[in-house]
Amino acid sequence: MIIDTHAHYDDEQFDTDREELLRSMHGGGIGLIVNAGSTVESWEKILRLTEEYPFVYGAVGVHPDEVGSLTEEHMMQMERLLDLDKIVAAGEMGLDYYWDNESHDVQKKWFVRQLELARKKEMPVIIHSREAAADTMDIMRRHASGMRAVIHCYSYSAEMAAEYVKMGYYIGVGGVVTFKNAKKLKNVVSEIPLTSIVLETDCPYLAPEPYRGKRNSSLYLPRVAEKIAELKGVSTEEVIRQTEANSRKLYGLQETAMP
Ligand code: NI
Repeated sequence: MIIDTHAHYDDEQFDTDREELLRSMHGGGIGLIVNAGSTVESWEKILRLTEEYPFVYGAVGVHPDEVGSLTEEHMMQMERLLDLDKIVAAGEMGLDYYWDNESHDVQKKWFVRQLELARKKEMPVIIHSREAAADTMDIMRRHASGMRAVIHCYSYSAEMAAEYVKMGYYIGVGGVVTFKNAKKLKNVVSEIPLTSIVLETDCPYLAPEPYRGKRNSSLYLPRVAEKIAELKGVSTEEVIRQTEANSRKLYGLQETAMP
C-alpha cells in the first residue's frame, strides 16, 4: 500500500470536499495518511480527522513560520497530545529562512524545544527546512542524534542527503521529483538508497506533473512512486513496497494494527 507520510487535510482548501476525497483514498491505492501539524490551531482539526478516519494518523508540531506566539503552555498541550495512540510523530518543525517570518534565533529556539519534547516522549520528528541547510544540520547533530526523523520535502544536495542517511534519517520525496527542472532532487533520489526514502504529498501544495499548480492530494502519489522507480531502475511496486516498510519504521506503525 501507498503511505502518504506528510499531508495537510486540515487545510481550508479541502473544506468543500474533504470527506468525499478521503473516502476515495482506498480506491486510489492509498492505505495510510499521516497528517502533519502546522499551527497550534491545526492540532484540534487533526485530532478530529484521526478520530473520524481509521487510516488517518496525525502529528503535532509547529511550522517555523508560525512559532512567533508560542508559549510553554503550548508545549504542555503538545506533550499531552503526543500521548494519544493515533498521534505518531512530532512536527512539522524546523527552520525556514526563505519566508523568514520569524527571526532565526526565535526559529531555532522553538525547533530545539520541540526536538527536546519529542525526545522526552520518544517520538519521531518531521523536519521542515528551507534555505537553512547548515543550521538544520547543526541542530539535528546536536539535538536529534539517535532519534527517528524525516527531512520532509528535501531540497538540499545529494551530499547532505547522504549525511542524513548516515545519521539514520529518512528523506521525504514528493511531487517536486516529477518537475522538469528538479535536477537536484532527481540526483538525490538516484544517489541515496531506496531504504531511506518515504513518499509524501505536503498536500494541498506541490502537486506532481501533470497536475503541477493544481490542488494536490494523496491520490497523485502513484506519479511520485513511478518517477522514483524510473530514477532507481526498479519497479513501481518495489518503490511502493519499500517506502511502505520505511514509513512504518519511521512512525512505528505496525502492520497488524492497521485497518
Ligand atoms: Ni507540510
